Amino acid sequence: MKLFLDTASVAEIRTMWEMGILDGVTTNPTLVAKEGRRFEEVLREICALGVPSVSAEVVGTSVEQMVQEGRHLRGLHPSIYVKVPMTPAGLRATKTLSSEGTRVNMTLVFSANQALLAAKVGAAYVSPFIGRLDDQGQEGMALIDEIVQVYENYDFATEVLVASVRHPVHVLEAAKLGADIATMPFGVMEKLVQHPLTDLGLARFLKDWEKVPKG
Ligand code: E4P
Repeated sequence: MKLFLDTASVAEIRTMWEMGILDGVTTNPTLVAKEGRRFEEVLREICALGVPSVSAEVVGTSVEQMVQEGRHLRGLHPSIYVKVPMTPAGLRATKTLSSEGTRVNMTLVFSANQALLAAKVGAAYVSPFIGRLDDQGQEGMALIDEIVQVYENYDFATEVLVASVRHPVHVLEAAKLGADIATMPFGVMEKLVQHPLTDLGLARFLKDWEKVPKG
């Protein structure tokens, strides 16, 4: 399974990229606003690190605006995936952009039928938001199970990108269901690395090593 960071912080991305565990990055308008920096400047810095998949979201709402923005974003760097919302206009824009070779990440997906439509218009990724479903009392992971099954039934090439991940158990459950990608905040990815028994075990090994005769 590919692991993506859900952030527009270049410092966070650099940390995980240098650790060798990062496969991609997803951004959205909220994450970009948090950084207080120009969008394209941030995108260029992320791409310059060598990250192979960087999702950048359009903010227009008409088909024409989304297609125009999508073409522009795609032209910034070959690693850019264009994020398009799951709306009727978004579906039309995705159909056009995908047919031109732009890789589209259809976002704000909350049902398996929406995911089915994303696959039909040729999206490269579909992004179901599981945390936001959990937040309102629906089991987000059940949606991943449904989408994986629907895509397997018809051999769709669209990859399932589990989004709105809140904790490490979400990542593990997504992996067990066979999702292609999970995108997560920096804090969640850090927790995948850490375990208190690893730290305790290492401290004990290093302490015992001091007792080994040297020289
Ligand atoms: C990723 O592509 C989404 O924009 C993101 O995971 C949304 O997460 P949130 O529900 O924590 O805002």
